Amino acid sequence: MTTSTSEQQSLLDARYQDGSAPRVSQWSPILESLLAHHSVRKYLPKALPGGTLELLVAAAQSAATSSNLQTWSVVAIEDPARKAMFAGLCNNQKHVADCPLFLIWLADLGRAACLGQERDAVIDAIDYSDIFLASIVDAALAAQNAVATAESLGLGSVYIGGIRNHIETVAAELKLPPMVTPVFGLCIGYPDPTETASVKPRLPQAAVLHHDVYSWPQQKPAIEAYDKTLKAYFDGQGMQTGGWTKSVISRLRGIEQLTGREGLKASFRKFGFKMK
Ligand SMILES: Cc1cc2nc3c(=O)[nH]c(=O)nc-3n(C[C@H](O)[C@H](O)[C@H](O)COP(=O)(O)O)c2cc1C
Repeated sequence: MTTSTSEQQSLLDARYQDGSAPRVSQWSPILESLLAHHSVRKYLPKALPGGTLELLVAAAQSAATSSNLQTWSVVAIEDPARKAMFAGLCNNQKHVADCPLFLIWLADLGRAACLGQERDAVIDAIDYSDIFLASIVDAALAAQNAVATAESLGLGSVYIGGIRNHIETVAAELKLPPMVTPVFGLCIGYPDPTETASVKPRLPQAAVLHHDVYSWPQQKPAIEAYDKTLKAYFDGQGMQTGGWTKSVISRLRGIEQLTGREGLKASFRKFGFKMK
């Protein structure tokens, strides 16, 4: 672990890259590891040590879960042909094929539905949006625990929302039962040191941290500053961008930005989620 306060402050500064980082007041190995997070999209062709998958799942299962319902599951894909097939379904994202371990995280109300059915029990609440939302939150919390653990073990990762581009095909490939849906994928592997990606700055805290009540005006100067910070970051990566504001607006411009995911609600209904 980093020992000197100035090294710790450098890690905090790297998360914002605009001088707005909070001062170091306390420190922990977990904080240090979280601050160093960046997505990894280039992997060494190196297998993970035996038992890694099971440790990551133990970490995932250590996350809090709504009412202890544990409404998530994960499918591990290690077979190269299947990884290549899923890469194709995720808009040909090469890292999906190249990583040694591809995890597909599922919101899983199917387990509870089966328990209810087998007992002829009334479980009407399962059809409400709150429970559907809870299962997605559960899956996300579990996955993020796995990500944090992978990074603490020297591995890299990147989430793959692209798994929702062809969600029904993915569900069929995974032989998912009713009331189970993919939420996102996750590539895990050893980062290729030739990859240039580094810690990507985030919005200044003034944009995301509110006290007592939410405020939009307090965010405006922070966002203006962040437009410049992010542009400088991408310039450093040799990528031309127009700043964060432009990228947010462009990403949300229209249905074409959803790359096939615009029909998600209908797919969820087909999977048996009523979302009342
Ligand atoms: C739910 C989710 C889905 C994502 N989907 C993709 C994806 O399909 N492909 C990809 O390259 N990155 C994907 N990302 C990674 C984000 O682009 C990345 O986290 C973000 O740009 C911030 O960069 P950083 O993780 O390096 O800090 C996804 C991230 C999340 C949380």
